[in-house]
Amino acid sequence: EIQIASEDDRERIREFLQNFFYKDEPLNSFLELINEENPRCYDLEKFTLQDLDSGLNLLAVYDGKIIGVCLNGIMQRGKLEEEFVCEDEKFSKIVKLLQHIEEISDPFQKYPGVDKAIVVKILSVDDTYRGRGIAKELMSKTIDLAKGRGCGFCSVDCSSYYTARAAKKLGFELHYTLKYEDYKVDGKSVFDPVAPHKAMTVYTQKIS
Ligand code: ACO
Repeated sequence: EIQIASEDDRERIREFLQNFFYKDEPLNSFLELINEENPRCYDLEKFTLQDLDSGLNLLAVYDGKIIGVCLNGIMQRGKLEEEFVCEDEKFSKIVKLLQHIEEISDPFQKYPGVDKAIVVKILSVDDTYRGRGIAKELMSKTIDLAKGRGCGFCSVDCSSYYTARAAKKLGFELHYTLKYEDYKVDGKSVFDPVAPHKAMTVYTQKIS
């Protein structure tokens, strides 16, 4: 069952992401954002758990238990996300990459006349249930939500090969690719996640 999340779900969502996103999203995993020594990354929690009452965030629930989470936001033409102030040294590397992608990929270029779009920010599925279409279902419901809110397209920044694959299957088009090996800060590569995660991609789908 797909449900709309609210602020009341904050702790359940945090616990879920603690188990299935903070550890195993490819960049978090590469940087070991959380590990036995540092079991929590408060900046990452703050970054992911924003605006839970927006009505745009979805939970996949089975037997009363969260098995998938899709956290979404709204983008406006010409407006960049408010800068996220980050103290965690490792997580700030991801924040910088996301800012870089936001600045150079600008999916609004592709959709003249569209001023508002929905963006899939966080997608996470319980590892017991992966590969069964839950991420695709969450993205597809996100598009349904966006239809009622005047969004002209849906965009997803895929740090994971599997998210990109799910988006492609749903008919999203590839808008932008940045291979991790090509992303350098001060001349040095920053990310080298395990295969098959080789690039950050931005996929978009028009909403009519
Ligand atoms: N091995 C091989 N193929 C896989 C695997 C796997 N471990 N996991 C998913 N896939 C495939 C699926 O078969 C499917 O491809 P297909 O349509 O050709 O069959 C595609 O990848 C993904 O489809 P879903 O089943 O809808 O995806 P799923 O429910 O498994 O969720 C997700 C994908 C969210 C990426 C999950 O693997 C996950 O939670 N990973 C850890 C956190 C993460 O990386 N999140 C995404 C970061 S990007 C972002 O948040 C916007």
